[in-house]
Amino acid sequence: MKTDSTYNQLVDMEWRRQDNRRTQLFSRSVVALATVATVLLASTAAYNLLTRRVSSSRPASSCSLRLPKAESCSDPCTIVLVESIPEGLEFNSSTTHPSIFQAWLNLMAEARSSLDISSFYWTLTNKDTGTQEPTAQQGETILKKLSELSGKVSVRIAVNTPQQSQPQDDLLLLKNSGADIRTVNMKELTSGVLHTKFWVVDKKHIFIGSANMDWRSLTQVKELGAVVYNCSCLATDLGKIFEAYWFLGESTSIPSPWPDSFSTAYNKNTPLQLPLNNTPSSVYLSSSPPSFCAAGRTPDLQSILSVMEDADSFIYIAVMNYLPTMEFSRPKRYWDDIDTQLRRVAYEKQVKVRLLISCWASTQPVMISFLKSLASVYDPRNKLDIQVKLFVVPATPKQKEIPYARVNHNKYMVTDKIAYIGTSNWSGDYFVSTAGSALVVNQTESQSLEPTVQSQLRAVFERDWESDYSTRVTQHSHFKHLC
Ligand SMILES: *[C@@H]1O[C@H](CO)[C@@H](O)[C@H](O)[C@H]1NC(C)=O
Ligand SMILES: *[C@@H]1O[C@H](CO)[C@@H](O)[C@H](O)[C@H]1NC(C)=O
Ligand SMILES: *[C@@H]1O[C@H](CO)[C@@H](O)[C@H](O)[C@H]1NC(C)=O
Ligand SMILES: *[C@@H]1O[C@H](CO)[C@@H](O)[C@H](O)[C@H]1NC(C)=O
Repeated sequence: MKTDSTYNQLVDMEWRRQDNRRTQLFSRSVVALATVATVLLASTAAYNLLTRRVSSSRPASSCSLRLPKAESCSDPCTIVLVESIPEGLEFNSSTTHPSIFQAWLNLMAEARSSLDISSFYWTLTNKDTGTQEPTAQQGETILKKLSELSGKVSVRIAVNTPQQSQPQDDLLLLKNSGADIRTVNMKELTSGVLHTKFWVVDKKHIFIGSANMDWRSLTQVKELGAVVYNCSCLATDLGKIFEAYWFLGESTSIPSPWPDSFSTAYNKNTPLQLPLNNTPSSVYLSSSPPSFCAAGRTPDLQSILSVMEDADSFIYIAVMNYLPTMEFSRPKRYWDDIDTQLRRVAYEKQVKVRLLISCWASTQPVMISFLKSLASVYDPRNKLDIQVKLFVVPATPKQKEIPYARVNHNKYMVTDKIAYIGTSNWSGDYFVSTAGSALVVNQTESQSLEPTVQSQLRAVFERDWESDYSTRVTQHSHFKHLC
């Protein structure tokens, strides 16, 4: 139960948000009047209508004065896709990437002054999960190295406030080793959770992706992330998102507006220009929920919708959960922002859409119904081409005993233009009340011989899509037979 004062804060926040939205509508109409001749406005009027509902709660015009100046970046940034492939999974493919385990070890070895981790929960040992699995060893190694590091450099951890029932031994160990830990009470702040998973090392290197601080995320759950080395400009920007969580760890309300130090110059309209693997690239970080976005930050949902909008030929999506609903809302609420956008681009722009969704023991049957609905938008003669597959990670009887494992937990999207690597499940809650973030990379213009991040991510998708672990969803699919 919420206390009255929290309830009042929520009402107050909601009121302010609506008030901001009115200002925003007003300022947008002023802009619209001034540029009435712009073709862009006319041709994307429908899209504006769509994004207006979901755009940041702050009017763009009022923050432009306070925004830091956009500068280009000459850091020699290197990006590496990293994956966890569950024990026993084998692909007939040459597409492989370094493991997330190795990436975390590398990042810890690089750390000279600081490591900031944003996390959902911590279960890195067999003890935490009540298991006796040899494959927990990687997680246990990470915890050991982290506790050693905590005595040497500044280690800060922002974590969703644990429930009493959740194991807290890892966090206690790290605290006793010298780490600073703040719990973020998302339940009180937004009725969501802190679901973000990223690392910032020395304000110079980063990891972002689907992997939780959980031993299963290294050996029993399929995960995807990206590590960017030697990239202070990007790491500094991700650091601002971390600082917001860090601040909220000691606050009972969300600042509105956020102080200037949280603002960013880099977003979907003015991305950071930098060399990534020697290829000129434009990059930005999005964040959710919108109330956590300081001036200049693109909310995660807006980022997803605009990446879809920009696609010309294909959109490949791999997410664990896909639901056109507010999954955790009671009473039930329908939420179709992403679903509508996919159907719209498939219809209007004849973009080929592929969704690779996960299926496991905890999958809600209603998800399959909505996926069948989306998969029914398939009529090649009329250039309608949406296809959906379910990915199942097989498990031996012994692997089946590991709780909440053996699932594809990826959260990314790749189009003919963009690689999007995120941390959120795809249902309404994750964009309205839950904290998450994403790295959006554009290397469209690459003339380099090295494969772009976008083409590497596409190869990962195609490997998984073509594998025997994926099954097409048709109108006749039986949930029980598939998962
Ligand atoms: C980062 O830069 C340092 C110094 O220039 C270099 O030694 C190191 O190899 C770079 N790391 C990566 C992963 O490129
Ligand atoms: C993401 O979805 C899966 C499946 O419902 C769930 O197990 C996991 O906890 C979700 N994340 C959060 C933060 O709810
Ligand atoms: C990607 O970058 C190119 C070159 O900078 C730019 O022309 C294009 O609009 C960008 N695409 C997207 C979807 O942002
Ligand atoms: C790999 O190819 C072999 C031979 O075609 C096939 O039997 C096997 O099922 C394939 N595995 C996957 C994961 O696709």
